[in-house]
Amino acid sequence: MSNQRDGIMRKAVYPGSFDPVTNGHLEIIRRASKLFDKLIVLVSVNTSKKTSFSPEERATLLRKVCYDIPNVEIDTFDGLIVDYFAAHDCDIIVKGLRAMSDFEYEFQMAHTNKHLYEKAETVFLCADSESTYLSSSMVKQIASFGGDISAFVPAAIVEDIQKRLNDKQKG
Ligand code: PNS
Repeated sequence: MSNQRDGIMRKAVYPGSFDPVTNGHLEIIRRASKLFDKLIVLVSVNTSKKTSFSPEERATLLRKVCYDIPNVEIDTFDGLIVDYFAAHDCDIIVKGLRAMSDFEYEFQMAHTNKHLYEKAETVFLCADSESTYLSSSMVKQIASFGGDISAFVPAAIVEDIQKRLNDKQKG
């Protein structure tokens, strides 16, 4: 079923590090995909984070878990989100909020993006109660010590993450 109203194609971008994608991210992706005609999940650069997976690896993991959502597309970009907007004809940013601690940073980012590109609107979806404590960095820490991450990431990528991070730990 289309989300299209008034003949307008509603396209949104969900940017993030996704290093790696967690159940929390996937839950936001599934819900956002129902609100827009097309959702682009954009593997982006957060200059204050050191990542463990390359952008291509992160995109591959995302594709593996989003294959069954027809209006979701995975892309990578190493610039400003607003520059991606200009090239891809979109202006809606989707973000997930886990807790109040996320809010200040996300609020600042939403306003900065609007300042850079006036048409940019940020839409926040509240994470469900299961996901409020979940983060990619926790997942990476557990996996790098050989712990069980199966409660935190989709089943299809548990092995990929575990193998990749365990290998890294061994050097
Ligand atoms: O998953 P994250 O790390 O919280 O996502 C943050 C991300 C990647 C969305 C943010 O750092 C970002 O938008 N990076 C791209 C550069 C940009 O447009 N920054 C916003 C203006 S400062």
